[in-house]
Amino acid sequence: MSPFRRERPPVCLGPLASLPEDVPTRVGTSPPVAILRHGDTVHVFEDRCPHAGAILSRGTLTNEHLTCPAHKATFEIATGRSLGPIPCRPLRTYKSWTENNLVYHSPSPRPTRKSNASPCPNQP
Ligand code: FES
Repeated sequence: MSPFRRERPPVCLGPLASLPEDVPTRVGTSPPVAILRHGDTVHVFEDRCPHAGAILSRGTLTNEHLTCPAHKATFEIATGRSLGPIPCRPLRTYKSWTENNLVYHSPSPRPTRKSNASPCPNQP
């Protein structure tokens, strides 16, 4: 068995113009990820709320802040940072890029920094 782990290939999301603009949209299920296109920028993030697993793409978007439909935890889409009111770990985000007018994202989330934030509390 090889000691090297094989990298998974990037995930193609299709042409930039085909992605809905300013509407969080689920695009994958394993793991569930969602995209948010704003102009030429595409953010890719996990589509499960770190608090209790609600589907974030069904949440409310205000500027680039997404509020979970279940208990209103809010996240900054570009960085995944948790903005409260529930103290939660950050959202996992994925690097995305455009090549020959096709949008791709990394199959693995960006590494997250260790945080002193308390873990998500249990579901209320
Ligand atoms: S599941 Fe999202 S805030 Fe509770």
